[in-house]
Amino acid sequence: MGKGFFISKTLGIVGVIVGTGVVATIIALSVVYSQEKAKIHEAVNPPTTPSTPWEHYRLPDSLSPVSYNITLWPRLVVNASTGLYIFTGQSAVVFQCEKDTDLILIHANKLNLTLLSLISRDGATAPAIKKSWLEVPTQFLVIQLNSNLMAGRQYELYTEFIGELADDLGGFYRSEYTEGTSPPVRKVVATTQMQPVDARKAFPCFDEPAMKAVFHMTLLHAHGTVALANGMNLVNVTVNGQDVTRTSFQPTPLMSTYLLAFVVSEFGFIQSPEGEKVLIRIWARKQAIAEGQGDYALEKTGPILEFFENYYSSSYPLTKSDQIALPDFSAGAMENWGLITYRETALLYNPASSSNGDKEWIATVISHELAHMWFGNLVTMKWWNDLWLNEGFASYVSYLGANSAEPTWNVTDLIVLKEVHGAMSVDALASSHPLSSKEEDVMRPAQISELFDTITYSKGAAVLRMLSEFLTEPVFARGLSTYLNTFKYSNTVYQDLWKHLQMAADSTPGLDLPASVDDIMNRWILQMGFPVVTIDTATGSINQRHFLLDPDSGTVHMIMMLSNLLNYYVPGRPAQSLLTVPIWEPNIFQCPCVFIQAIPVINRAQVVDDAFNLARARIVSTILALRTTLFLQREREYMPWQTADRNLGYFFLMFDRSDVYGPMQAYLNKQVTPLFNHFKTITADWTKIPEKHTDQYNQVNAISIACSTGVAGCEELTTGWFKDWMKTPENNTIHPNLRQTVYCSAIAAGGVEEWDFAWRMYREASIASEADKLMYSLACTRVPWLLNRYLNYCLDPEKIRKQDATFTIVYIAGNVVGQSLAWDFVRTNWNHLFNE
Ligand SMILES: *[C@@H]1O[C@H](CO)[C@@H](O)[C@H](O)[C@H]1NC(C)=O
Ligand SMILES: *[C@@H]1O[C@H](CO)[C@@H](O)[C@H](O)[C@H]1NC(C)=O
Ligand SMILES: *[C@@H]1O[C@H](CO)[C@@H](O)[C@H](O)[C@H]1NC(C)=O
Ligand SMILES: *[C@@H]1O[C@H](CO)[C@@H](O)[C@H](O)[C@H]1NC(C)=O
Ligand SMILES: *[C@@H]1O[C@H](CO)[C@@H](O)[C@H](O)[C@H]1NC(C)=O
Ligand SMILES: *[C@@H]1O[C@H](CO)[C@@H](O)[C@H](O)[C@H]1NC(C)=O
Ligand SMILES: [Zn+2]
Repeated sequence: MGKGFFISKTLGIVGVIVGTGVVATIIALSVVYSQEKAKIHEAVNPPTTPSTPWEHYRLPDSLSPVSYNITLWPRLVVNASTGLYIFTGQSAVVFQCEKDTDLILIHANKLNLTLLSLISRDGATAPAIKKSWLEVPTQFLVIQLNSNLMAGRQYELYTEFIGELADDLGGFYRSEYTEGTSPPVRKVVATTQMQPVDARKAFPCFDEPAMKAVFHMTLLHAHGTVALANGMNLVNVTVNGQDVTRTSFQPTPLMSTYLLAFVVSEFGFIQSPEGEKVLIRIWARKQAIAEGQGDYALEKTGPILEFFENYYSSSYPLTKSDQIALPDFSAGAMENWGLITYRETALLYNPASSSNGDKEWIATVISHELAHMWFGNLVTMKWWNDLWLNEGFASYVSYLGANSAEPTWNVTDLIVLKEVHGAMSVDALASSHPLSSKEEDVMRPAQISELFDTITYSKGAAVLRMLSEFLTEPVFARGLSTYLNTFKYSNTVYQDLWKHLQMAADSTPGLDLPASVDDIMNRWILQMGFPVVTIDTATGSINQRHFLLDPDSGTVHMIMMLSNLLNYYVPGRPAQSLLTVPIWEPNIFQCPCVFIQAIPVINRAQVVDDAFNLARARIVSTILALRTTLFLQREREYMPWQTADRNLGYFFLMFDRSDVYGPMQAYLNKQVTPLFNHFKTITADWTKIPEKHTDQYNQVNAISIACSTGVAGCEELTTGWFKDWMKTPENNTIHPNLRQTVYCSAIAAGGVEEWDFAWRMYREASIASEADKLMYSLACTRVPWLLNRYLNYCLDPEKIRKQDATFTIVYIAGNVVGQSLAWDFVRTNWNHLFNE
């Protein structure tokens, strides 16, 4: 799945909140949440040993699938008498019997079976069915037979079934939107999200990643709608006497069930020019396509796909790659083979209203998903316990792909902010966990879903980046290539990758590793956390211990590889370079000019982040941490400012009621004023946008920090722009890059009038990224009753889509005024939010 939005309904709040790493009340929330989870766990799963095969969560090894032939028919109109949207389906699965057995276990969840039959593929009579039922807790269709299936033979299980096309964002589900204005017409889309364990909600299947098979898909759909699936659409015929088209698709390669996708919609599309090797299409709401919102994705998808073909030395194995933007989607995006699904904000770009950050997000998400076409889809983890390798890898190389598409952005530097710092802030908690889990510890669907977290994505990316840095990129890519070629269309464990990287390293003259890949990496993946190293500059003695933000919590695990630790902190730099710069000499911060010249930009950001983390862990004083921000007066680069803003934001939130709040504000006001003036000058009094990607980001920091610390002229600027917009709502002249911070600042300074205007604009926005900016900014108000009303809107999917509700609550919790309101709200609505 796409990074950043690894959200499930039940786990979303905790996932996102810990990811932003700001709020102490929310840490408390995650503690309450774990306790609650433990309770639910015990209630649902009494610790008994299963006595029958269908009480186990894993499939037995007696049967393995060969191919499926599936026909599904989603109804995009509600049945007036039942009030349900449904789909009907038929599926025939051919499987091979590996061991004699009189039991068939196949996954099925929330499906009503209407027909079931078993035949033998070689003409012999198949065993008769003695009894069959759906085992709800383990999500199995259990079929007991009168006699044995014979090892070595193939059988075909045929089922017919009905399922609900619910709005639950999982399995085969529905998404809704309106199109046109006079009057708006409601449209329904049938779409899928199978990962990790919801293919079984669409049809009975052996729903484990190692149970690869070939899938023959057919979709029935109303005339005027278009059907898409993993393979290219082949033929379509009108079904006799009905207003229905039958579209069949090219069979898939051998693949896992979690990568299936099918969509029926009235979407429009654009495509790559005829004659290209791989057909690329971008699909979205017709209006979005007509407005050109798919153009940027179309322009970049082909080149990024080509980048990965070269990077992996392996050609893309399918004939087409569809990218489709869905109005309702739980994750950020999903790497279904040949039919990648996205949130609208992760695919659609509109130069008139999208910011450079939106653009970067689109480039990196497309890149992340395309990276999976090989790493994940062609070669797949054997079981979910290796999810970190799949997601960490895609997250890491997504920056390489995005860098190839937008070479002037230097996005590979930003990994430090976006992955490494985020990973460290979560990994420094006693509640963290090792990257790698044991297969037997990840059984139940809830355990699998829990793995989609910051550790899996961001720490996974950080340690793989470290590995690639010390092997060097060409060696890393060579190991990958032999790995992919050896295991294509099959499954692996992480040790298989280590082995191929080791082979690549061994065959590289002059590459001298201090230890084996396995030995180096196991220290990072088998234990949680990371070390803090103390160097006594007087004696030269060095020691290390497990770094915990709260030093009183948890046990200490030791990590031994010092040289790699320094790489983790200062990736890409030899350990010595850090040691030669006397960063812990407090006086260096007194002369900002020296500090800025002596230390490269990434490391200036690192030093600030380290200092604040060490201060929170009470290893250094808060004064020392604050001293690392003295140089900001002279700093014009984005990365150090961004890091300082994030860390100081935490202090503001913690100390908003204490007497240090005022002096801190005054101090930061003084530090940011030169930056604010700098951007005022280089943008010709805010009429131009800086050229450099990171300068564009830092312009936003300059305005947001200046306005929140009361720099003269800032609030007038933002509220002035906002008032102009309120006068002519159809003509928004605020530059897209600045919109979120301008909206936020104006709504914070304003009252109900500003809020209601922004709410109306949110409701009317036809561009998802614009809606997201408003959704964020609405949480900036300082008026408690407005925040409470906004919180209540989160319970009403007509007002705030289910996919957005958790984000909204998190945004409100990030507001000093909203913090306690959000906390109360979450406790009051606990059951609604977590158990639905
Ligand atoms: C799939 O099943 C349909 C009938 O249900 C049949 O017409 C078609 O030939 C089958 N396709 C394959 C590839 O077996
Ligand atoms: C609505 O559902 C009922 C009960 O399942 C069924 O009998 C009826 O045919 C359905 N109506 C339509 C229009 O599909
Ligand atoms: C499946 O059967 C259950 C129990 O009879 C019923 O409540 C549910 O509505 C059915 N689902 C569908 C999609 O027909
Ligand atoms: C059916 O196929 C024809 C010819 O390939 C194509 O022009 C048409 O758009 C297709 N219709 C649908 C609904 O896919
Ligand atoms: C990108 O990074 C390179 C190397 O660090 C640097 O020389 C260059 O100035 C950077 N470009 C931009 C636009 O920041
Ligand atoms: C939008 O506002 C700008 C600046 O106020 C103005 O120049 C422009 O003519 C306006 N456009 C429309 C369509 O009203
Ligand atoms: Zn992913």
